[in-house]
Amino acid sequence: MGSLAEVLYLSRHDVEKLSIRMKEVIQVVEKAFREKTEGRTEAPPKPGIHPQKDAFIHAMPAYIPKMRSAGVKWVSGFPETPRRGLPYISGLLILSDTETGFPICVMDCTWITAKRTGAAPAVAAKHLARQDSKVLGVLGCGVQGRSNLEALTVVCKNLEEVKAYDINERNLQKYVEEMTAEHGLKVVPVASPKKAVVNCDIVVTAGPILKHPQPVIEASWFKDGGFACSLDFDSYWKPEAMHSMDKFCTDDREQLAYYRKLGYFSNIPGVYADLGEIVSSKKPDRKYPYERIMSMNLGLAIEDMATAILIYEEAKKTGIGKTLPL
Ligand SMILES: NC(=O)c1ccc[n+]([C@@H]2O[C@H](COP(=O)([O-])OP(=O)(O)OC[C@H]3O[C@@H](n4cnc5c(N)ncnc54)[C@H](O)[C@@H]3O)[C@@H](O)[C@H]2O)c1
Repeated sequence: MGSLAEVLYLSRHDVEKLSIRMKEVIQVVEKAFREKTEGRTEAPPKPGIHPQKDAFIHAMPAYIPKMRSAGVKWVSGFPETPRRGLPYISGLLILSDTETGFPICVMDCTWITAKRTGAAPAVAAKHLARQDSKVLGVLGCGVQGRSNLEALTVVCKNLEEVKAYDINERNLQKYVEEMTAEHGLKVVPVASPKKAVVNCDIVVTAGPILKHPQPVIEASWFKDGGFACSLDFDSYWKPEAMHSMDKFCTDDREQLAYYRKLGYFSNIPGVYADLGEIVSSKKPDRKYPYERIMSMNLGLAIEDMATAILIYEEAKKTGIGKTLPL
């Protein structure tokens, strides 16, 4: 079948080697949100299978015509894998040619998942956090705790301090050492979730997602004027804390509704706006310095495909990866 029947394979190492910067990922993710709001993307809610308790394998397809990016991410999160020394998240992403439908690239999706999930809260923070935000609270100091901090340093130029909390003492210490060295910020380990929320201008929760959560964050812990982003659904935030927000946003209303049908998010506020509406100014972003704003980020396939095409093009340009026959 000639050259059409070839795919570029990019291992995890290949993807990392490309050295694509967080700033670029934030830019393409923001662009993808704009395209979504104009109705120019296709991304049905992700179907999933669940081979273990609290584990998932999701299929996440998306098409962004303007970026000529079409593909699917097949991504899993298994809570027990870190105990075996393996990452919680693993998977593959397939990009297809938008004219022929032929697969053109298969890549490891660990890096993409880490980076685009950090980039989306940064896009949200750019519009919804106070510009003078100085203190960040991070609950869950794993891959997401790292990439969210990295992305927030790109958009929140006044960050000075990070209050970090993790139930695992070793993970917490490692995070404090690595993040201090990497970002030159004051990274302080704290001993309770409360201490990682009180007096923080921005709070990111990135612990495990639980179908039947036992949340601890109370409305009174969260500072007026704060911005919160949850990556672990409503596992950390009590309903009253979420209802105390002046603006409750999400990355995708449709997907939030879909998860509610599956039994998640039993008590959350009405959605003020999705991130696409915010970035394209269809809904006003932060209006007052004292507003309490939260974004519930579920993770969208358009974020993956916006980043994947960047990776594919960079790999072709630099000759990284291995060409395989179909
Ligand atoms: N919304 C999205 O787009 C998206 C994308 C990727 C991952 N996630 C979610 O983000 C979360 C973190 O993923 P990750 O890849 O960083 O996982 P990870 O395993 O790398 O890190 C998780 C960290 O949380 C810690 N932890 C466990 N229970 C905790 C608790 N109750 N309080 C504080 N810390 C706790 C662990 O010790 C670990 O250090 C998961 O829930 C994952 O499903 C969301």
